Amino acid sequence: MPKGLGYAILILALMALIPPVLIARARAVRSGRPRVHIIRDMDNQPKRKAQQLNPLFADHRAMRRPVPGTVARGELRDDDHLYRGKVGGKWTTTYPVDITGVSIRRGQERFNIFCAPCHGLDGAGSGSVSVRALSLQEGTWIPPLSFHQEQVRERALGHVFNTITNGIRTMPAYGPQIPTEDRWLIVSYVRALQRSRNATLQDVPPEDRERIR
Ligand code: HEC
Repeated sequence: MPKGLGYAILILALMALIPPVLIARARAVRSGRPRVHIIRDMDNQPKRKAQQLNPLFADHRAMRRPVPGTVARGELRDDDHLYRGKVGGKWTTTYPVDITGVSIRRGQERFNIFCAPCHGLDGAGSGSVSVRALSLQEGTWIPPLSFHQEQVRERALGHVFNTITNGIRTMPAYGPQIPTEDRWLIVSYVRALQRSRNATLQDVPPEDRERIR
């Protein structure tokens, strides 16, 4: 056997050890780089993720804004009565949704969640937020109006709906948080609260009137 052949076999044998060593290493060591991906299919393709830059557009935003005037399906909101509380340009005095005992109860529940912290459970204005803010005596808190004062009792339904939707003076808007129908149910409950404070004997069922007298 020529001397050179012996060396060649030795070198080849040593080189044959390299792949298993690399594989063993790859199995044992963590890497921050993605694994080797020979056939890519469509797993990897150029794309922009949220908040990344894209020089293709003049403003370099990869996240595009909706085309101005875009309206999502079913979100046209062209019903003035339902969405703005107006009929013929005036605050409505009728409800655009059905008001039943069950729905007033839902209005009560929503009221207690969203409004009672300021307006109080009875709507008189002594919610815990207001009580606390007044006790701090910082002089910056405007207490919520009582629903039972003349000015608020005489507001049209649409006006109260608008107050909830867009806020009024120092009261913030709740339109973004409360769905439209629920806002109307809250209006009905505000009316129920107002009526409860100013009820007359005629509001009591006849069979109970005698007992109250
Ligand atoms: C963060 C406290 C706060 C919350 C919560 C709040 N309000 Fe008010 N609300 C006020 C304040 C303050 C006023 C008086 C604003 C003023 O006079 O500047 C007011 C006024 C009102 C008025 C009378 C407005 C008028 O002049 O006719 C109505 C009605 C009313 N709120 C309804 C609601 C309803 C319904 C909710 C629940 C969806 C609600 N508010 C939630 C603070 C609040």
